[in-house]
Amino acid sequence: MTKNDYLKLNYKPNYQNEIVATFYGESRLSLKELAIKTAEESSIGTWTKINTLSSDILKRLAARIFYVNVKTGIFKIAYPLALFEPASIPQLLSSIAGNIFSMKAVKNLRLEDIEFPEKYINKYPGPKWGISGIRKITGIYNRPLIGCIIKPKLGLTSSQNAELAAQIFKNGVDVIKDDENLTDLSFNRFTDRVKKVLLLKKQVEKQTGKKKIYVFNVTAPTEIMLKRSAFVKKIGGQCVMIDVITAGWAGVQSLRNADLGLIIHGHRAGHSTFTRNKKHGISMLVLANLARLAGVDQFHTGTVVGKMEGEEEEVIKINELLKEDWREFNKLRENWGKLRPVLPIASGGLHPGLTDKLMKILGHDLIINFGGGIHGHPRGSLAGARAAKQAIEATIKKIPLKIYARDHLELKEALEHWGFK
Ligand code: 3PG
Repeated sequence: MTKNDYLKLNYKPNYQNEIVATFYGESRLSLKELAIKTAEESSIGTWTKINTLSSDILKRLAARIFYVNVKTGIFKIAYPLALFEPASIPQLLSSIAGNIFSMKAVKNLRLEDIEFPEKYINKYPGPKWGISGIRKITGIYNRPLIGCIIKPKLGLTSSQNAELAAQIFKNGVDVIKDDENLTDLSFNRFTDRVKKVLLLKKQVEKQTGKKKIYVFNVTAPTEIMLKRSAFVKKIGGQCVMIDVITAGWAGVQSLRNADLGLIIHGHRAGHSTFTRNKKHGISMLVLANLARLAGVDQFHTGTVVGKMEGEEEEVIKINELLKEDWREFNKLRENWGKLRPVLPIASGGLHPGLTDKLMKILGHDLIINFGGGIHGHPRGSLAGARAAKQAIEATIKKIPLKIYARDHLELKEALEHWGFK
């Protein structure tokens, strides 16, 4: 093995047949040496010369470093497609996001971006419904969907949960979800919750003439998750949520591949264990790419203005990537093959006073989720739901929240309570 087996700075990557990964790196070695170690460990090599690595294997399968910038710490590697099993996110990550992070040579290493050839992308199913499907189901085309997370996260019985959901649906919310840690608990059994929520949801839909979506959290070991999802389907539900990081990509893919016809809501709880450090780990952008490949229909991407970390430029870039429609973008070098666009979800620390700022930054193709921002309203959850709806109405009508609040009491109370920060 020589340096030149991996380092090919004059090489022009073939975006039709190679996966291109962009890394940021820091090391006691030079950046080039770190890039070589990264390329060999993530493709076919190891720490020493091995007799089993023929020149033929090297020629066909070695990763190629074609860009190194010592000023920015960025290097780019092209991987031949033959290194990857089609439609397997676990195998993809075991290769290009596996051992490399543990190497002693690494001080910091971050997988910033991955670009996939269209033929690799098209082996994945992508979202079943995507943005247009979700908008069709709800009949809402010209505004963000108003979402609510049942709070407290844990503690309500299945009956209290269902009752609260029905009241919030009645007061203007379109989508209600279980929280990330509410699954099947002794005080709120999954099957009871599904039956009770869907019964009351049906009644609300009849009364209001509006389609509502309840998002049941099915996160669990895969076989249990599939059973829970099938149950939701059987009782008449349309949507399930999976915590993509804690359940794992194999679980997400298994759920999508079961093709139950349900909307899949992707929660990203735990992602900051590896996305938050800007020098080490995997970027949130990569995670969003993986969610779309795996077939999540709607995905938590950040709020900019809420309680969760996530800078404006980064969240905008992620949302734009998820919303890219192959019909419009198929002339670009990288496109999303036949995969449908994903609906971004803004969630975490949102309240009515933040909606105009949020929509100015992230636009209308969005689910805006309020947890504390509905249940923490001074006059309770129902007033909170109305305030959230009024805030979005005002923003759509381009009326400043303060002005709209003059004749919308619940919004007025919310603004007095939380202000605009
Ligand atoms: C989520 O699921 O995104 C969080 O539980 C958000 O809750 P919050 O709106 O109360 O911050």
